[in-house]
Amino acid sequence: MSVSSPLPASVEHGESVPRHAVDHVEARVRALCERYARKLPFHGWHHVGFVRDKSVEFARLNGSDVSVVETAALVHDVNYLVRRNSPAAAGSGLRRAVLADAGVADPVAEWIDALVDEAEMRTRHRHISREAQALSDADTLFKALPVTPVVLAHRYLAENGVSLRELANKIVGEQRGAHDEGFYFYSPAAAAAYSRWATANLELWQCIKESLDDPTVERLLTAVG
Ligand SMILES: [Fe+2]
Repeated sequence: MSVSSPLPASVEHGESVPRHAVDHVEARVRALCERYARKLPFHGWHHVGFVRDKSVEFARLNGSDVSVVETAALVHDVNYLVRRNSPAAAGSGLRRAVLADAGVADPVAEWIDALVDEAEMRTRHRHISREAQALSDADTLFKALPVTPVVLAHRYLAENGVSLRELANKIVGEQRGAHDEGFYFYSPAAAAAYSRWATANLELWQCIKESLDDPTVERLLTAVG
């Protein structure tokens, strides 16, 4: 179900987010990420910047509103500033405050907040809006990058206070269905370029899950802390 349809025509066909407002949101989110960098070893500015850059690329490809997608990408993970290991909705208050301070019109801010929820890995489905698809593809790509399990997964554990088993269960539990049903990536270009990485990543996490059932592996992990 698309969330863009209830918007007034002036928003659907008009100005969306002016450049100066996007820049204002970027400066504010970047400052927050840098100030609270120790709270955000995984979802810090390096993640937000990556998701912004890639979501703009995917928004241009799928014809969605680039300014809305860019702004949504900038505020999509502010929930981690509000509460550790939380859903996107937990950041709604801070998200709306950042958007209001930047002068983003209320209906557009509402649209952005809704599309962030719509793009969430845990609940997204085949028929989300184009803007949510662009954001989702960028955020999902970050998860599927071959470098993420190697240099960033341990940061996720530290940031969110979860065990390796909990993270492996979360990744396989949330991503396997979308992968097997063919909407892991929405953009055909993203699917063509990155599906191999996604498949390898899911297989790795499935193997990690299986390895944790071996008591000798558990003892090994306990021994290394
Ligand atoms: Fe994210």
